[in-house]
Amino acid sequence: MIIPHHLLSSTSIFRRRSIQASLGSALIVILLYRFFFQAAPLVPTVPRPQEIPPKIWQIFFGYSPLSDFSDPLQTWISKNQDHSYTLVSNDGGNDFVRKHYATRPDILSPFLELRFPILRSDFLRYLLLESEGGVYTDLDTACTKPVRDWVPEGLRSQTRAIVGIEYDQRDDEPYVGMSGTRMQFCQWTMAASKGHPLMSKVANSVVESLHMLARRHGKSIRDLEPSDDEVVEVTGPVIWTRAVMESLSEATGTSMSYVNMTGLKEPTLFGDILVLPIDGFGAGQPHSGSTREGDADAYARHLFKGSWKHGWGG
Ligand SMILES: *[C@@H]1O[C@H](CO)[C@@H](O)[C@H](O)[C@H]1NC(C)=O
Repeated sequence: MIIPHHLLSSTSIFRRRSIQASLGSALIVILLYRFFFQAAPLVPTVPRPQEIPPKIWQIFFGYSPLSDFSDPLQTWISKNQDHSYTLVSNDGGNDFVRKHYATRPDILSPFLELRFPILRSDFLRYLLLESEGGVYTDLDTACTKPVRDWVPEGLRSQTRAIVGIEYDQRDDEPYVGMSGTRMQFCQWTMAASKGHPLMSKVANSVVESLHMLARRHGKSIRDLEPSDDEVVEVTGPVIWTRAVMESLSEATGTSMSYVNMTGLKEPTLFGDILVLPIDGFGAGQPHSGSTREGDADAYARHLFKGSWKHGWGG
């Protein structure tokens, strides 16, 4: 470090005065030093890939009493005291999206227009994670393993998103209600780093399919009243699963399908996306080889309140 002589002498004069003054001049020296010697060769820095930040998000739109969820809700806070916790209300969601998508009218206007609660709740979870990153989880889920232990130690430096298998048909008959897919990913719990391409992809797809649904019904986005099947397709597990598969393919540079993940036993990293086996987020289901009772290696448990089926979404 080279400091010009006149700067050195001026600091030594100041040092004989008060501590405050010398601190001030030291600050000036540092600033000048940075300005002249460090800022000069402006090498563009490659942004460091972001880790998943220690944030937990839940959405509560107030369609049923919050006390219905207090037990599972507390598991997220008590097991993750190294995380921040945010419960996002309907108005809070609008404020969040206004703030983060001020320059993205393609996302901002459909979101603000949208009235149907479950469509808003689905859309909002993707936007929360795209904008700030962290874990999103529905109110009817309980945390059974602290989030800091979700990623196996050897994979931590590379993991930028976490998804769980919800449905894995394997050699079984297709399970009713799974939209004819052989594999579906949970959309009640998910995690990502800020700005992860998976969240951008699903958010953009949701916008596209909201416009398509509105056209199909000859309605505005504001007046949409979709069927359960349409919800699943337009903002829910179907569109989510498609985005996950595409992102897995892009992240690995290979063509990913259920074949790569069926019967998965261990959390497995594909590119920077960690895929959890069925019990990760999907324990207790009557299909997919999920552990129904007893000891499952469950990260989070879905309690299947299914309030969304009445259009509520929490
Ligand atoms: C996924 O499976 C396909 C074959 O179905 C294979 O070509 C591809 O390499 C696999 N991808 C990874 C990351 O294992």
